[in-house]
Order: sequence, then C-alpha cells, then structure tokens
Amino acid sequence: MNSEQSIGLLNKSVADELAAVHQYMYFHFHLDDLGFAPLANLFKRTAIMEMGHVEALAERILFLKGDVQMAVAEPVEAIIDPSKMLAKAIEMEQGSARDYNRAAQTCGANADAVSKQLFERLVGDEEGHQNEFERQLENIRRFGPSYLALQSFGAATAPEPSET
Ligand SMILES: [Fe+2]
Ligand SMILES: [Fe+2]
Repeated sequence: MNSEQSIGLLNKSVADELAAVHQYMYFHFHLDDLGFAPLANLFKRTAIMEMGHVEALAERILFLKGDVQMAVAEPVEAIIDPSKMLAKAIEMEQGSARDYNRAAQTCGANADAVSKQLFERLVGDEEGHQNEFERQLENIRRFGPSYLALQSFGAATAPEPSET
C-alpha cells in the first residue's frame, strides 16, 4: 500500500469538503436573511454532512499516520442569487464526485481498500446532494423565483409536526 499517496488524496479531499462547508454556510446565511427558509435549511444540512465527510477523511488520514492539513481548496464565492447558488453547488458536487471516483480507483490500485471504500461512499453522498440541488433549481425554473418565497410561506404556516 502506498500510504503517502492515499494521505495526499485524503488531504486534498478534506480541503474540498472544507470549501463546501464554507460556501454552503455562506449560502445558508444569505438565504435565511432573504427569508427562504427551506432552501437555507437544505444548504445548512448539506454543510453539516460535508463536515461529517471531513471527519471521516481525517480519521483515515490519522490511521495511515499522516496529519490533517485543514487547508481550504478555494475561497467562498459571494453569490447572492439563489439560482446561481444552486448552479455553483451543483458544479462543486460534480467536481467532488469526479475527484472521489478517481481517488477510489487510485487507492484500489494501491491496495488501500478502506480508503477506496470511503471515497466510494462519498461519491454516493455527493451525487445525492447534486440530485437535491438539481431538483431545487428545476423547481425555480418551472415555477419562477417566487417558488422560494411560496415554499417558505408554506413552511412558516404549516403546523408543527406533532409528537407521538
Ligand atoms: Fe462531501
Ligand atoms: Fe456534497
């Protein structure tokens, strides 16, 4: 097993995940400020999942006797328009899935099956995120930007789920 190569790929992925956490929380703050609660919450939930990915990657790096660099791959883009936020997020998820697919192949070729499995699991998660963001963007295109406001109105007036 080539641990050094795996550690390099894992740290590159930590940087990618941290960039997603920063970008999605930035989107969350602004959507919340605009009153678009459901989409704001989707970005917050996704950011929390990406933080879970950082943790899983970090645990693997430490097991391989490396250290977690905690670099951030790219600065936050100051996007305020919800459709553009979703387009950016879809692009980020596609990029992550592509990189993790390649990383899984490299780790597999290096006989590092556990890192390979981790990357494969992340590909599944990122494709799930991409799917959710695409659905939201599709709805904005179908129903217009007022969709976000109406969605928030529905959420604000819906009764609280009763505890059973
Ligand atoms: Fe992720
Ligand atoms: Fe993701």
